[in-house]
Amino acid sequence: MPVLQRPAALVTLVNGACARAAGCRVRSSSGTSLTPSQPAIAAKYPYQVDLKAGKRYAWCACGHSKKQPFCDGSHKTATPGISPLRFQLDEDKSAWLCGCKRTKTPPFCDGTHKEKFVQEAELSGQP
Ligand code: FES
Repeated sequence: MPVLQRPAALVTLVNGACARAAGCRVRSSSGTSLTPSQPAIAAKYPYQVDLKAGKRYAWCACGHSKKQPFCDGSHKTATPGISPLRFQLDEDKSAWLCGCKRTKTPPFCDGTHKEKFVQEAELSGQP
């Protein structure tokens, strides 16, 4: 299955959104750095989607959304430390968005789902 390479200028992150896969950390009210909860593996494969230029998308980073690969708000109760990754593209594009939530190039699949730790993991219950 081909993996889409992400042109650096093509993706715009909206309002500084953060994803665990991007190495983001959250701060507690005491100022202590915390590592967010581990995201669930929603799928062991990427989702092919047709994305529209200028439209804002929220990629599910927690793995609990029922609308994969997009956010449905489930992170608010399932994994409060993980926020969706908000992004938009400069041009219409068919893309492979990560379903395993372990990619190092969120929201795009980087092939990490092929690794043993993903393929042998239990799914979170999503299709
Ligand atoms: S689905 Fe391919 S890296 Fe997550």
